[in-house]
Amino acid sequence: MGNSMNNKQIERVPVRVFKSREEGSKYVAREIASLIRSRNASNKKTVLGLATGSSPLEVYRELIRFHKEDGLSFKDVITFNLDEYYPMKPDSDQSYRRFMYEHLFNHIDIARENVNIPDGTLAPDDIDSFCADYDSAIEALGGIDIQILGIGRSGHIGFNEPGSTIATETRLVNLDEVTIEDAAKDFGHKDNVPFRAITMGVKSIIKSKKVFLMAWGEPKADVIRKAVEEGVTDELPASYLQHHEDVLFLLDKGSASKLSRFEYPWLTGICDWNPYMQKKAVIWLARKTKKPVLKLTEEDYKAGGLTSLVRLYGSAYDLNLSIYNQLQRTITGWPGGKPGADDKTRPERSNPFPKRSIVFSPHPDDDVISMGGTFLRLVEQGHEVHVAYQTSGNIAVFDDDAHRFSDFMLGFSKKFGVAEKEIEGLYHQVTGLLKDTRRKGGEHEMVLGIKGLIRQGEAISACRFCGVEESNIHFLNLPFYETGSVKKSPVSQADIDIIKQLLQEVRPHQIYAAGDLHDPHGTHAVCLNAIFEAIEQLKGESWINDCYVWLYRGAWHEWDIEDIEMAVPLSPEELMKKRKAIFKHQSQKDSPVFPGKDKREFWQRAEDRNRATARLYDELGFTEYEAIEAFKRYHF
Ligand code: F6R
Repeated sequence: MGNSMNNKQIERVPVRVFKSREEGSKYVAREIASLIRSRNASNKKTVLGLATGSSPLEVYRELIRFHKEDGLSFKDVITFNLDEYYPMKPDSDQSYRRFMYEHLFNHIDIARENVNIPDGTLAPDDIDSFCADYDSAIEALGGIDIQILGIGRSGHIGFNEPGSTIATETRLVNLDEVTIEDAAKDFGHKDNVPFRAITMGVKSIIKSKKVFLMAWGEPKADVIRKAVEEGVTDELPASYLQHHEDVLFLLDKGSASKLSRFEYPWLTGICDWNPYMQKKAVIWLARKTKKPVLKLTEEDYKAGGLTSLVRLYGSAYDLNLSIYNQLQRTITGWPGGKPGADDKTRPERSNPFPKRSIVFSPHPDDDVISMGGTFLRLVEQGHEVHVAYQTSGNIAVFDDDAHRFSDFMLGFSKKFGVAEKEIEGLYHQVTGLLKDTRRKGGEHEMVLGIKGLIRQGEAISACRFCGVEESNIHFLNLPFYETGSVKKSPVSQADIDIIKQLLQEVRPHQIYAAGDLHDPHGTHAVCLNAIFEAIEQLKGESWINDCYVWLYRGAWHEWDIEDIEMAVPLSPEELMKKRKAIFKHQSQKDSPVFPGKDKREFWQRAEDRNRATARLYDELGFTEYEAIEAFKRYHF
């Protein structure tokens, strides 16, 4: 590909990239509202096709606002939802019927008889006729006016999983493995997810007059690139929308990030050669040609469509050197700054030394998993290191562990003759609760309390191992997390105040936080936003403006190399020490309660990731390290 392709030639469906999901959602809500208004004015009905899941949530919020504040009436609106799990009781937490009432219908003036949602309680023999009636009802109304869609990582629209043809109608389907994995977080565990659903077919969706497909956040980036830039295939049902005449894909920066226009803008048109793009392009070329940066030639740049970039520098030699130096300067063994060193080109300032650093850890083990090596270095280099565990992580402990620790308590009190009666009473209470099989997980306060303590003990043990003083360990137990179930409460000022108070007490020079935006509803992203909000509210205080915020990438992803602003190398011994710190989290070892989609243990994932980063630096022509932990600075 040369410079000749533009976005329109590469992208096979109309795409709009919004600054945020809020903006994109407002756009969809406005379109829906204006259609309803014009239909209401001429006494006509509006037929909407609705989706559940996280993608349309803000559209519904905005429609409710239009209803409440602007008097938008839904009396003449008829809705058809895309799908429902099967079997599914309407009042279950995960029921799509319940979802729709909670997030929309209970708050607007729609008539109940105008709401259509596939029925998860049907007897198997009744499903076929129900599905045929569903399609006929849509047909009888003249079809759907506006259909809103999300997209699954499998490429599904509705629950039309890979393999669904363009001729499919409403029917019972099997869910894809990826869909089941993604739904696991709503059901507590993968095994609880129904493996079937009733869904509108591709044909029924494609017949809608107008389609808005929304995708927010990075987890959708891969599937969006395929649906937008690759050909139509039943392996990716969303690609059928390329045949639709009035479809719009609404994306945010995250979901659009893998589109060629952002990944390789130099291939899709005129590129704005800002410093970031220059770095990205050179790294891209080095990886594509499998050459270290300093060995890239004018020929390579030409073949890669990057002649305009070389021209900026005059020669490949000067360009290579500039990017090489930038990358080299990200590497430092002094995450808290090197005392006495010239820090003009170092990621961290030399002064003050030692620094006060706070490591925020969303769960009690993210600190050591994601930045254990850096954490150890900070302590060893004499900084005052504080660790703030944002949530208790209490739902991620097996009952068996709670039982074992209760046994220990009882044994302890008997052996040393301390409070035997009281402890025995408590013991029977807890073990009784643990035996109650009707309980889903450990939602009883007492059981949760014990589980929280188990995780606290593990975190303290890891901190002790790393040399952190006990007075510098802070358990914030943020209230938003304490629901006792997978579903969390929204963050409130109470959460933010707790973080603010700690920041005001410590007045750190450095903050480390988990910058994981991969799952916008996940605990990591919620915890990060709470920190950002706390910082925002503290901006009036002089010390905060002097504080560097370093984001480690939580979970199992690493920053793209062009995003890394500080790379801390680890020796084999340091990596081993980090592994031992992770081992202190015994309740999460072997097979944890929430293993996610990855079969590897947490320490293995961490090591693989840190080794991969080191390998990448090595391949680009830098010193070969055993492992590297990477950070990106948050500039507020
Ligand atoms: C929901 C539906 C699904 C979702 C898709 C994306 O009614 O039909 O296709 O739209 O799984 O889910 P979220 O929006 O939660 O990422």
